[in-house]
Amino acid sequence: MKIAVVGTGYVGLVTGTCLAETGNNVICVDINVEKVKKMQEGQLPIYEPGLEQLFHRNINQGRLHFTTSLAEAIEEAKIIFLALPTPPGGDGAADLSYVLGAAKDIAGIIKEYKVIVTKSTVPVGTADKVRAVMSKETNLEFAVVSNPEFLREGVAVEDFMKPDRVVVGTTDERARKLMGELYAPYVRQGNPVIFMDERSSELTKYAANSFLATKISFMNEIANMCELVGADVDMVRRGIGADERIGKRFLFAGIGYGGSCFPKDVQALAKSAEENQYDFQILNSVMSVNEIQKKVLVQKVKKFYNGDIAGKHFALWGLAFKPETDDIREAPALYIIDEIVAAGGTITAYDPEAMPNIKNLLGDKIKYAEDPYQALDGADALLIVTEWSVFRTPDFDQLTSGLQSKVIFDGRNLYDLDKMEDCGFYYNSIGRRV
Ligand code: UGA
Repeated sequence: MKIAVVGTGYVGLVTGTCLAETGNNVICVDINVEKVKKMQEGQLPIYEPGLEQLFHRNINQGRLHFTTSLAEAIEEAKIIFLALPTPPGGDGAADLSYVLGAAKDIAGIIKEYKVIVTKSTVPVGTADKVRAVMSKETNLEFAVVSNPEFLREGVAVEDFMKPDRVVVGTTDERARKLMGELYAPYVRQGNPVIFMDERSSELTKYAANSFLATKISFMNEIANMCELVGADVDMVRRGIGADERIGKRFLFAGIGYGGSCFPKDVQALAKSAEENQYDFQILNSVMSVNEIQKKVLVQKVKKFYNGDIAGKHFALWGLAFKPETDDIREAPALYIIDEIVAAGGTITAYDPEAMPNIKNLLGDKIKYAEDPYQALDGADALLIVTEWSVFRTPDFDQLTSGLQSKVIFDGRNLYDLDKMEDCGFYYNSIGRRV
């Protein structure tokens, strides 16, 4: 099938590449001339495990193309995916100007029936808005479909190729058939393509992310309780996760959820509730718990040094908002760095993938190390902020000799408490004994 993908951000690129992988002919369009040129030359602009191989294979086999011309991209495409940014506007509601702008342009160009699919996370009612904008521009028939994306950064290729489910919101029979055909190769193991109306589909995306964020905030509050009553959040997590109604996944306490999705989507759903005169109480708590949790690690550090960290030097492991990505959007590391530097502390940081992004953003605000152990040089303590695998089983002798004092603050609960005690570390983690 011929497919166009408008927008080559994270979702657009993964979608385009993975759709090409099953034999579709995909053309991705972006207004960024420089970026398109690089992709035409075979350079992948993002880091995502497994994507590079697929990207090159599909370019080499002539199924994946890039252009800056919207007209060229959509000329032969049956299905046009909109994977454009929907950043939070000043009032917290999603800004739809990119999506609606592209829809208007597309409507001005099309010469036959097309299926326009919103892949971006968009508020309920957006399909209707897209339809209205397009109807003003064209008398031709078209369908607007909501097809939210549930992939996670770091495992995006696997999530796209073998999704738990595909949600397709449309009431147009032709579009339903085409979307069913398109996704058939991805759900061969029997996972469902769930068809529904556009509004339910749009809300499904926000409900999924908000529910997951709720799970995290809930566990973070349980962790805080654990510290007060002398319980261990890892034990409680295992104890409740064994109940299938609760589930094992997404119950890890930490230093708050970050990234480009949860903070934005929870806020957007709360905003949408407000616009509908509904007081979505749980969501408001989820957000405020997260704000508090972001501060927990720095509070622990300050408490340890009796409120005075001026002149203290810290090693910081992990800058990306989570492992297997170079993404630092809403990363807890940013807040931690700000607070420590503002209080007169200094930092040397290391991350396996996010160093270029953080250097661009922070410049010489902090120092940078070439590897995890170099970051320890002369540090009073180690702060663990992202749970990269490489930090999970460190060489504890090197840790001991590298640090000035055997002090670790771990925002991700990576190490066994008994082991740390045996090694003689002061080890302060989340929701566990110190
Ligand atoms: C999230 C969703 O998991 C995807 O299903 C969704 O498609 C995506 O948003 C999106 O809307 O585009 P992502 O932001 O890539 O994916 O990252 P997650 O793995 O969900 O992690 C989000 C945040 O929650 C991270 O800061 C992570 O550290 C935190 N987290 C996650 C916890 O604190 N505890 C957990 O148990 C799990």
